[in-house]
Amino acid sequence: MGQDAASVEPSASAIVHHLEGVVIHGDQRGRQLGFPTANISPDAGWLMPPDGVYAGWLHISGEPPLPAAISVGANTTFDQTDKRCEVHVLDRTDLDLYGAKVHVTLTTRLRAMQRFGSTQELLSCLNRDIAHVRTLLRTPGGRQNGSRGLCHGDTSRSE
Ligand SMILES: Cc1cc2nc3c(=O)[nH]c(=O)nc-3n(C[C@H](O)[C@H](O)[C@H](O)COP(=O)(O)O)c2cc1C
Repeated sequence: MGQDAASVEPSASAIVHHLEGVVIHGDQRGRQLGFPTANISPDAGWLMPPDGVYAGWLHISGEPPLPAAISVGANTTFDQTDKRCEVHVLDRTDLDLYGAKVHVTLTTRLRAMQRFGSTQELLSCLNRDIAHVRTLLRTPGGRQNGSRGLCHGDTSRSE
């Protein structure tokens, strides 16, 4: 865990974290999966939030805050080990943010990152995450498809 904020991970889910940084290239998988993400490289002085999946907002200069589902941690489903912050803006596939300076507000922690047995299981969980985020952020529309309970991936290997 080193110097990051995981050492003070709260048990309560509603706590606000902030992160500022630049959008960098990820593995380009998100767009193929139907969930494009902006990968944030934190500026000096900003700690990565504790690992988990969050509801929150992406702030871009000159724009109103954009509702988002955010993952923090390693994408172990794809055998990655490096900790990342990835922001999926709800209902927006048109954004090209590479190189942009952004601010992320993480308002509610939904769950732990999990290692799923398949891409399909990850996608099912992402859909539930997004339905949950819509409820929490009171954003309308979109693919509300079922319960907003926990995801049931390979929890034995979750954080
Ligand atoms: C809301 C949300 C939840 C996620 N949860 C997980 C997870 O539990 N496990 C995991 O391995 N990856 C998770 N991811 C990350 C995806 O694996 C990642 O976005 C995808 O592989 C695309 O990565 P790329 O942008 O580097 O191409 C999540 C991403 C989002 C936006």
